[in-house]
Amino acid sequence: MRPFIAGNWKMNHTPSSGKKFAEELVPRIKSLGADIVIFPPFVAIPSLYEVTKGTSLKIGAQDFYWEEKGAFTGEISAEMLKEAGAEYAIIGHSERRNIFGESDELVNLKLKTAVDSGLKPVLCIGEKLAERESGRTKDKIKFQLDAGLSGVSTEKVIIAYEPIWAIGTGKTATPQQAEEIHCFISEYLDERVKILYGGSVKPANAYQLMTQSHIDGVLVGGASLKIDSFYDIIRNGIKAFEEKN
Ligand code: PGA
Repeated sequence: MRPFIAGNWKMNHTPSSGKKFAEELVPRIKSLGADIVIFPPFVAIPSLYEVTKGTSLKIGAQDFYWEEKGAFTGEISAEMLKEAGAEYAIIGHSERRNIFGESDELVNLKLKTAVDSGLKPVLCIGEKLAERESGRTKDKIKFQLDAGLSGVSTEKVIIAYEPIWAIGTGKTATPQQAEEIHCFISEYLDERVKILYGGSVKPANAYQLMTQSHIDGVLVGGASLKIDSFYDIIRNGIKAFEEKN
């Protein structure tokens, strides 16, 4: 098993700064035993693809719309993203759900489209602080899995467990807290699905998190924007996997 390390750039990096990042990263990760994916803003996908095509660095989109085409001003389809070079797509990130009001029904439609169109989906789920504090974490997770995955074969789906209270806050779930939920998800789905942890992952905590047996990798926001910290997370993930395999 190899760690799966993903960088979610959110609304950061332009086509040119993203391309420069990829040009530097590709030779550094060339012979490393990890699956590495970057999720740049839509407009940077083609320029990153230009330098990553045929290399071990893969590209994904942070979102898309589920319809094939038509009058949906401002939206982008799975086919368009695939043609631009995206192989993966994040679906249902908590920022999409909370800032842009995406519902579980919409998340489910996107998952179905991703699977049908061959875009590999990374489904994000996670509880808010109030839900954790009132002991409702597992209910929330169950609800999001049921709603998001309804009618979808989980075979090709990657799950990212991202407790909302840990995203961009510097407050990471402890490896034990994360492992407990990862274990719960894998038992609940009753299938060997890849489960990533996300929420304030940095070089300093990546190793401990990835030594946990149900943590298959990480989805990194802030710490993926600088090449050195992203590279350190990759190295720490590889080290953790060498030890637990
Ligand atoms: P963060 O973001 O690493 O900056 O907390 C993670 C995410 O939102 O995927």
